[in-house]
Amino acid sequence: MPTAYPHPQKHLGHAVNYLTGNHEYDIPKETVDGEIAQLRARLESKPSFNPGLTFDPEKHLIKDPSAKVLTLDDLKIKKTRVAPVCNFATTYQFPLLTQEAVDMILWEALRPEIVEKYGRLPNLAKSATRLDFHIGGHCSRWAPFTQALWNSPELREILERFTKVKMKPLFSAGHFNFSLAEKNATEPPSEELLRKYREQSNGDEVPSSLGMHYDSSTFALVIMAELDENTIGGETGIVTGDNKFVRVPDPKVGSATLIQGMVLKHVATKPVSNSNRVTAVAGFCVAGPEKLDNSLLTSVKPSILPRQNYNEFYNDWAQFRLTNLAEHILHYRDQLKNVEQFDQKDFIAHCQEMESYLHKCWDEMEEHYNPPYPPKEFRITYDEL
Ligand SMILES: [Fe+2]
Repeated sequence: MPTAYPHPQKHLGHAVNYLTGNHEYDIPKETVDGEIAQLRARLESKPSFNPGLTFDPEKHLIKDPSAKVLTLDDLKIKKTRVAPVCNFATTYQFPLLTQEAVDMILWEALRPEIVEKYGRLPNLAKSATRLDFHIGGHCSRWAPFTQALWNSPELREILERFTKVKMKPLFSAGHFNFSLAEKNATEPPSEELLRKYREQSNGDEVPSSLGMHYDSSTFALVIMAELDENTIGGETGIVTGDNKFVRVPDPKVGSATLIQGMVLKHVATKPVSNSNRVTAVAGFCVAGPEKLDNSLLTSVKPSILPRQNYNEFYNDWAQFRLTNLAEHILHYRDQLKNVEQFDQKDFIAHCQEMESYLHKCWDEMEEHYNPPYPPKEFRITYDEL
């Protein structure tokens, strides 16, 4: 079935070598041997450093964190690109991880073999340099501590208190956004930096390691993993329904924010100061079997996100989606057993929902459809959706 955009093309914003590892986006050797090696050495030199550390929710999660929650109504967001799964929009920062846990997830991502295989420069970032890069997709296979964190029931309980829906981590959860400080760079005076910071009122123009976007996962948990003292900027920025650009204030190392990133336009801002800023982001979706997830491929497929490993990503995607659908079908089948009056309308609607879920498993794949990136919906206002 032919489509308007059957092939990825560089001039449409695609990373065209996605089948062979997008190596033109490799993190430069200067960064790998310089700032990355330094950061890793700093973590390894801490007296408490233990490469075999296992995740212990009692020890590594902050107990009962609370934070102010904002709903889509609070943010005056009425129109959304897809139906929201709940009215939850975002939280203010809340303390989540101890320093030991933060150090460990960062270290697992910074090991040389992980950087080489799962680290890439971003595609289409705003004002990115050799020090802005992504590492991700390594957790389920190579990062036991981080993976145990994403899968921990204790973490889910914390998040579900905010969203009030049942949640589970996405198949590929675990993506790190790095913006590192340039060694030996001279810093302008802080008044000048503050002025620059205040001038950044247009979210579309704010320098970031990932431009203004919606997520392809329902929820994103954004944990501050590294933020130099006296950093100016580096917050998660979001756009409200009346088109204002606001920052989730006061990020601290170990603190987090949760957003319904699928329907909330947002950006990971770069500090205006020459500072390290690293966030660990984990995607979550609604948990079944009653509900099907609304995950997309839009901004995470390998021709868009260069760090994706083609085979691992699509094999995991297929397993995830087909498992969810299989569990959902079995659940629905069991429910039907108990009905006295068979409702055809309801049955048809349900089958259509499952058909469209199956359709969304493949309709954004490179083999089928490669529209220009970023898509129009990332640039227009909520009202124009
Ligand atoms: Fe995002």
